[in-house]
Amino acid sequence: MRRRIAAGNWKMNGMVADLAIVGEISAAAKAASCEVVLCLPATLIRAANNLVALPLGGQDCAAQEKGAFTGDISAPMLRDAGAGFVILGHSERRALHGESDAIVAAKVQAAWAAGLCAILCIGETEAQYRAGETLDVLAAQIAGSLPEGANARNTVIAYEPVWAIGTGLTPTVDEIARTHAFIRARLPDAGLSILYGGSVSPANAAQIFALADVDGGLVGGASLKSDSFIPIIHELEASA
Ligand code: 13P
Repeated sequence: MRRRIAAGNWKMNGMVADLAIVGEISAAAKAASCEVVLCLPATLIRAANNLVALPLGGQDCAAQEKGAFTGDISAPMLRDAGAGFVILGHSERRALHGESDAIVAAKVQAAWAAGLCAILCIGETEAQYRAGETLDVLAAQIAGSLPEGANARNTVIAYEPVWAIGTGLTPTVDEIARTHAFIRARLPDAGLSILYGGSVSPANAAQIFALADVDGGLVGGASLKSDSFIPIIHELEASA
C-alpha cells in the first residue's frame, strides 16, 4: 500500500497570525485516513510544531549541514524546528534560484541524512509541454535529481507541470494518468508515492485523486485556507 498524502505548500505566505489556519487543518487531519502535511515558511515551523501534532515540512534546504552560508537553512535545522519533510526541486527554486538537477540531488541527500522525507518536485515547462517533450524532461529530472537510495519512507515524488502552477490550468486526467504511469515505471521502488501538483482545487481533486497512479496532491494556493484545503483532504480520503 502506497502512502496517500495531501501536502500543502504555503510558499512565501504566512505570518504568526495565520497559525489559526494550521490549527483548523490539523483538527481536520486528526480524523483523516490519509497523511496530511503542511510545508510552511521556515519562520513558522517551530511555532506550528508547538501548537499542533500535524506533520510539517520546509520548502527548501541547503545541501550543506552547517557553516558559512549566509541566509541558508540546513536540513538538520528544519528537523530541529520540528519538520519531518522538505520540498526539494520545486520549479520556483529551479527557475528563480537556478537549481540544477545536481544541486537538487545534493539537497535530497542532505535531507535524508537529517532524517527528513524529501518531497522531490519534477515537471515540464509550458514550452516543453507544447513541444511534446514532457516525458523526456521528466526522465532526465528523475535520473538527475533522485539519488540512489530512495524508498517510500524517505522520498515522495511530486509531479508539477510548471504551466499548471497557480494558473488554474491542469493537464487532462488522461495526460495525468499517462504521466504518472511513466514516472512510476522509472522509480527504483514501486512503493514510492507520486503526488500531483498544479492548480489542485476542491472542484478538480476528486477526478485527479481517482487515478490509479496518483497518490495525493501537493497543493499551493488552495492550502492557504482551511475551507479549500480541508475539502481536498476529504476528496483524497474518499478516493482511497
Ligand atoms: P498551486 O496549487 O497554487 O497551483 O501551486 C502548486 C504548487 O506549486 C505546489 O507546490
